[in-house]
Amino acid sequence: MDWGMKNRIESIFNRKSGKTVMLAVDHGYFQGPTTGLKKPAETINPLLPYCDSLFITRGILRNCIPSNINVPVFLRVSGGPSVLKELSDEELTTSMKEAIRLNASGVGMSIFVGGEYETKTISNLGRLVNEAEEYGIPVLAITAVGKDMGRDARYLGLACRIAAEIGAHMVKTYYCAEDFEKVVEGCPVPIVIAGGKKIPEKDALQMAHNAISKGAAGVDMGRNIFQSENPVSMIKAIRAVVHEGYSVDDAFELYNNPKDDSKNN
Ligand code: 5RP
Repeated sequence: MDWGMKNRIESIFNRKSGKTVMLAVDHGYFQGPTTGLKKPAETINPLLPYCDSLFITRGILRNCIPSNINVPVFLRVSGGPSVLKELSDEELTTSMKEAIRLNASGVGMSIFVGGEYETKTISNLGRLVNEAEEYGIPVLAITAVGKDMGRDARYLGLACRIAAEIGAHMVKTYYCAEDFEKVVEGCPVPIVIAGGKKIPEKDALQMAHNAISKGAAGVDMGRNIFQSENPVSMIKAIRAVVHEGYSVDDAFELYNNPKDDSKNN
């Protein structure tokens, strides 16, 4: 792997733990002003000191995030359908030139394995990887779940492996309680988990803990952080699980009684 590509990937992984806490705030690209992100700057900016990378669209980056941040940006570069339409009908929406102009450390797009437009999204991934390789920009493939697909190891394993085979440098997928380690084993590139719909804080910490113990390289979590009653405490607790090996009970205790620290401590 070329130095630039390696350097960009390594920039989002914590040197001590080798893991990453990415903050996903791209939901508006198909959901509009969703709960917790109605005023993106108010939600996102207090969380910036605690994330290892920001997963975001160019519009919210340009309009809501200060340009002097010290956080690597992964840019969501696919979209098209709103939540009202067939979600798998995505195109690439943001060029590689634009990603470089925005100083992105990586780009990300969804593939819809089992979805109506499966072939189109996988071929979009191939084209994105071709272009990204030219500039040393890593590609994060997001294994979105087709309408009728279960989030089980068989389906997620299929989707993650396809993403890696097509050339994705990292994969974001969902956690499944049964056989998640098989999803990880079958995928030769680092896997981070999305959090999915908001669940109680302790359950979300448990999910992150399980995923890490079964081989995930980190999380790219959104709603379970920014929709939490206390988003800053929640991201601190997630960091403690991912980077410091906290038990779920200790991390939940930290959530309830947060320490005054940031990702540098
Ligand atoms: C939306 C995404 C999100 O980035 C991803 O789902 C992570 O967010 P959450 O933890 O809220 O699921 O790709 O399509």
